[in-house]
Amino acid sequence: MNKQLTIFDHPLIQHKISILRSVETSSNQFRALVEEITMLMCYEAMRDLPLEEVEVETPLTKTKTKMLAGVKLAVVPILRAGLGMVNGVLNLVPSARVGHIGLYRDEETLEPHEYYCKLPKNIGSRLVIVTDPMLATGGSAVDAIKLIKQHGGKKIKFMCLIAAPEGVKALTEAHPDVEVYCAHLDECLNERGYIVPGLGDAGDRIFGTK
Ligand code: PRP
Ligand code: URA
Repeated sequence: MNKQLTIFDHPLIQHKISILRSVETSSNQFRALVEEITMLMCYEAMRDLPLEEVEVETPLTKTKTKMLAGVKLAVVPILRAGLGMVNGVLNLVPSARVGHIGLYRDEETLEPHEYYCKLPKNIGSRLVIVTDPMLATGGSAVDAIKLIKQHGGKKIKFMCLIAAPEGVKALTEAHPDVEVYCAHLDECLNERGYIVPGLGDAGDRIFGTK
């Protein structure tokens, strides 16, 4: 088992992934589910955030209790589909900064092409959560993380909903320091680079463009 990869087997996540896969699910429902699943995954992926002891005055007394130790977060969606996951992270960590990386996959070669990159300042001092619902060949995730590292990013986690074994292999080999989280590991890619059984084109389903 790959230690860099966490697959969520929680029943609520698996249930929601099944609805997401269905061709009957509307864009409206799809968007809401992507956000909910991301929030559930984010809750677990943030388990290693450091805490510090603080003093709080309750209505009864002063007490020592724990709060997050000033960890700064940046969430960086890979456009377009990664945008659908941003609010799932922001619901839990509202102070996170948001960067954007625009990549599209050439339908013939399956190679990613960069068209936009805007990242928060001092990204090196932040925990960076890269979001993209689909990890197919892994080309987009590998390139996006390379770009973040070129801008100084150091501590990076990658969060997707559905991964193909090919994408997990490519990503973990290219970036062995990056933890990868997915809600389900699917079987394979088809000849057009789509994840099988998958859920189709995540961007089109989120934005209703097909
Ligand atoms: C999809 C998906 C990933 C990429 C995954 O985006 O959201 O970014 O493909 O494929 P890969 O692992 O083989 O690189 P797409 O390029 O279709 O762009 P979109 O989000 O704008 O629809
Ligand atoms: N991108 C998608 O949106 N879906 C896939 O199955 C593969 C890449």
